[in-house]
Amino acid sequence: MSLKKVILKTKPEGVPSVETFEVVPDSLSSLDDGMVHVKIQYLSLDPYMRGKISGRHLTEAIHPGDDMDGEVVAEVLESRAPDFAPGDTVTGMLGWREEAVMPADALKNVVTHGLSPSLARGVLGMPGLTAYAGTVNLAELRPGMTAVVSSAAGPVGTTVGQIARAKGCRVVGIAGSDEKCAWLKEEAGFADTINYKTEDLRAGLDRACPDKIDYYFDNVGGDMLQAVMERLAVGAQVVLCGLMSQYNDGGMPPGPNPAFTIIARATIRGLVVYDHAASSADAVAMVAGMIKAGDFAVQEDITDGIENASTAFVRLMSGQTFGKTLVKMI
Ligand SMILES: NC(=O)c1ccc[n+]([C@@H]2O[C@H](COP(=O)([O-])OP(=O)(O)OC[C@H]3O[C@@H](n4cnc5c(N)ncnc54)[C@H](OP(=O)(O)O)[C@@H]3O)[C@@H](O)[C@H]2O)c1
Repeated sequence: MSLKKVILKTKPEGVPSVETFEVVPDSLSSLDDGMVHVKIQYLSLDPYMRGKISGRHLTEAIHPGDDMDGEVVAEVLESRAPDFAPGDTVTGMLGWREEAVMPADALKNVVTHGLSPSLARGVLGMPGLTAYAGTVNLAELRPGMTAVVSSAAGPVGTTVGQIARAKGCRVVGIAGSDEKCAWLKEEAGFADTINYKTEDLRAGLDRACPDKIDYYFDNVGGDMLQAVMERLAVGAQVVLCGLMSQYNDGGMPPGPNPAFTIIARATIRGLVVYDHAASSADAVAMVAGMIKAGDFAVQEDITDGIENASTAFVRLMSGQTFGKTLVKMI
């Protein structure tokens, strides 16, 4: 059977649709010295891919006709490189495809601490490192603080919330469904949640954060950031990480008023995960340790088959996924 990959067909306006992408035949390069042949097990779908499509991400843009880029977990089938052997589990930026022949330096062995390899692209991968950077490297969290995180049920948000909880904070999550909110409280140990689609956000923040907000990890921007800023405690710490509210839009919406930062004497930190690569092993060790101790809940949203990758990406970018979005190659 011929191999398949996914390319970007057109540049979408707003939320991408299945027609934004096209599944096309793929072929493998020859297995020369220093090359490794891998079969992809899981493809990671991440919101930054929407930014690459619109040319607004820090990394190279994806244009119509280009292969879709993305991080994967893969199994080594054949190797002509000393560091890899058949059966090894590896990760790399191999794109939306079923198999690949890659130079060895494009691959890294996965350290999963005996946990599922799918986690290597979620809470033990780039999203987990992002959360670690924003809770350990860029903030000083102390017991008793009120910590708020938006997009709380995604892989970044769940990890932020559970690290903050482990540090003794009272964690409040903002998420867009009752199912997500129930899971955050019952499984992930969040103290409270706000379903911003059914409860007025400002009323929910007043209810869940009566003592104001000491720490905010922002994955959304826009009016959600504004509403939290209005409720910052004096000396608050804010980490700006993502802009879920605007990735599907063409322009830049008006931002929050700096007056609230001034009134709260707040510290605001911008987060770029690439700056924190040196913390990767520490982040994996912390989160894997919490999972093994039964003190960390994980949620994955797994779709089967490369043909369904575009449907899964549309669900991710329209708020319908719950947990880390992955495509399992079958
Ligand atoms: N700065 C960095 O270096 C860095 C690194 C990694 C990730 N990030 C950012 O971190 C954020 C979270 O990433 P993630 O991988 O954990 O993704 P994710 O949370 O799984 O992202 C999808 C979720 O975003 C939420 N969302 C909130 N407002 C939305 C809106 N207006 N439209 C659509 N969805 C909306 C939806 O959940 P609800 O049900 O809650 O609406 C949706 O399920 C993203 O903004 C991402 O770009 C930044």
